[in-house]
Amino acid sequence: MVKLANRHLVSIDDLSNGEIEALFSLADEMSDSMGRQSDLCRGKIMASLFFEPSTRTKLSFEAGMLRLGGSVISAADIGASSLAKGESIADMAKVVGSYADIIVIRHPWEGAARVVAQYAGIPVINAGDGSHEHPTQTLCDLYTIRKKRQTIRGLRIALWGDLKRGRTVHSLIYALARFGATILLCPGPGLELPEHVLSRLSTDYRGELKRCRDLNQALETGPFAVDAIYRTPSSPHQLAMLPDISMRVELNAGVDALYVTRIQKERQTHTTKEKDLNRAYPVVDKKLLRGKGFKKTLVMHPLPRVDELACEVDADPRSMYFKQAAYGVPVRMALIALMLGAREISVSGDNDHFTTKPVYHVYERDPGIKCPNTDCVSNQETEIRYIKPKFKIVSRMPLTLRCIYCDHELHPQYVASSEWHQGKVANKKYHSANSRFARSIRPENLIVFASEGEAQAQQFKPSSNVRQ
Ligand code: NCD
Repeated sequence: MVKLANRHLVSIDDLSNGEIEALFSLADEMSDSMGRQSDLCRGKIMASLFFEPSTRTKLSFEAGMLRLGGSVISAADIGASSLAKGESIADMAKVVGSYADIIVIRHPWEGAARVVAQYAGIPVINAGDGSHEHPTQTLCDLYTIRKKRQTIRGLRIALWGDLKRGRTVHSLIYALARFGATILLCPGPGLELPEHVLSRLSTDYRGELKRCRDLNQALETGPFAVDAIYRTPSSPHQLAMLPDISMRVELNAGVDALYVTRIQKERQTHTTKEKDLNRAYPVVDKKLLRGKGFKKTLVMHPLPRVDELACEVDADPRSMYFKQAAYGVPVRMALIALMLGAREISVSGDNDHFTTKPVYHVYERDPGIKCPNTDCVSNQETEIRYIKPKFKIVSRMPLTLRCIYCDHELHPQYVASSEWHQGKVANKKYHSANSRFARSIRPENLIVFASEGEAQAQQFKPSSNVRQ
């Protein structure tokens, strides 16, 4: 049985493939009997905290809760809540957790939903945290693809546009990797998928990523500029074999879905270079869709759209974006009902990523190192007593730490062991992180420094493997 009661949905990886499938069956049921669900969550309260603009996500969550017979309380902008008075997210979470039964939060800081989940004491759903993730949009996206194509495994899905800051794309890519789709990455100029997302694709999902520019060959893709292709370990022809030919085959085979996104203007740094890039942003229109590879392509978009998707496509039977938005209600009704424990539902064979996903040692130490992402909640909160920087140690060679809040990674150069100085200042040595010696330090004893200066400030001296 799937029991999502008392769980959180912060990352799409908080749900297994089997749980997602089961949720979709329940969403089918909800959509067939939308008007007959009003007893399911009667007496329950959903706190709807949207500290960034939202139409679809907020209203479909609220409509979903009302159709389930529950009630909604809301806070609409940071300026109108006590966060504006300097209250920490953690305090807000504890308080709202004592008023409601479930929290839905959208916040501009990456990792904010994770903090709320840690402190609220009730189920928390991430409705978008900065550029990080937007798992419930991914549920709507997958549900739409499933409705049309019955399966996701083996489909070829192109992600188009702002892959750098689009949170919908980040959650979607992890899910597609887990469900076994082939992913074509088609970023706008300068808007490539961030390194930490690529890194998570290879460490956690173990598929194969081939960057087109590495092929040292001009690909005739027209405006459809494929930057990289990702295939899961289960795909039949691995890219490593004859990569050029394999890539060409992929590009000529057409795409099952084209997922268009807008430029995330509100997250741009507005450099002149970026303004120029905006002018070169690709547009999806009738002309493009006349291309050979798009005959049966589902045209998707999380919405809102701006100029990147021409209105002339709306009447085309391949356009799916208003369906994606409409599915938001039954999908979110199913999710709320499961997370409030109002429904349970059985899962068939759940032998997937959830059971095979890597378990990483968590690094947490005072005085700590900081996450390199300035938009991470751990760098924003002034009340640092609550938010301690924490990292998963995802690799020892090179040493790679991944922030548990926002997934950005850092590669510290200097480390020490907590075991070897035995209280004696003379024994306190720091090492080059990539030395053999450093790699033998057990993860629970590892001390990581942001710089040599920091190591010395903590009274460590360079060992012989640190280049002077
Ligand atoms: C998206 C979001 O907020 O990330 N919108 C949505 O929830 N459907 C996409 C966007 O704003 O571009």
